[in-house]
Amino acid sequence: MSRKLRNILVCAGPTQEKLDPVRYLSNHSSGKMGYALAQAAKKYGHVVLVSGPTALKAPQNCKFIPVVTAREMEKEMLKQFPKADLTIMVAAVADYRPETVARQKIKKTADTLILRLVKNPDILKKLGERKKNNQILVGFAAETQNALAYGRKKLAEKNLDWIVVNNVAKKGIGFGAEENEAVLLSRGGKTIPFAKQDKKRLAAKLLELIARKMDLT
Ligand code: PMT
Repeated sequence: MSRKLRNILVCAGPTQEKLDPVRYLSNHSSGKMGYALAQAAKKYGHVVLVSGPTALKAPQNCKFIPVVTAREMEKEMLKQFPKADLTIMVAAVADYRPETVARQKIKKTADTLILRLVKNPDILKKLGERKKNNQILVGFAAETQNALAYGRKKLAEKNLDWIVVNNVAKKGIGFGAEENEAVLLSRGGKTIPFAKQDKKRLAAKLLELIARKMDLT
């Protein structure tokens, strides 16, 4: 017997890690892939979107929770996760942040400036550790080499049900692009390729497949 999904949690966008009052470390995530998934997910239930800073409008009829840093994202995701039937982590979380945030703008003095960085929490790994049997957890892997091997490693290490692997070294897909090309890997060893296509189309197809395979529609 099938059961309807109710709560879907999506995490999208980059994080920004403050260096001083005017600078931060971040990455090129535009949020397009994650927002497309949040939009497509509305067909299957109530959507909560936790998002780092992007230029996109929040999809209508979903709960929108804006965050800036990895630690803020972690706090919100850990809070929302217990209520989620399906969680999809698309966000490009900064793996490191500056050890200290300068109170004043850092002045240009020496020719070189050494920044000391400390590790940010691995949010998805923490969700994987807390995951209950009735929860479905999906991650993304942004790789530039050996994409499938690294993707499989992340799927196992983070205790995921599915991982969407994209080779972000390829032109015209991944960070900032309108389109993406991906391979969906399942915990059970399935490998399902998705050709290069608009992120909105890809999002709808990914969700349809996950919902169908897990007998959730
Ligand atoms: O936002 P767009 O411009 O549309 O671009 C989409 C995208 C390229 C960002 C997206 O398709 C994508 O690949 N997202 C994952 C980005 C990433 O950080 O991948 P990763 O391989 O470094 O991390 C693996 C997984 O762990 C991801 O689900 C990530 O959200 C999660 N993670 C990573 C580090 C960390 N400290 N905490 C995490 O939860």
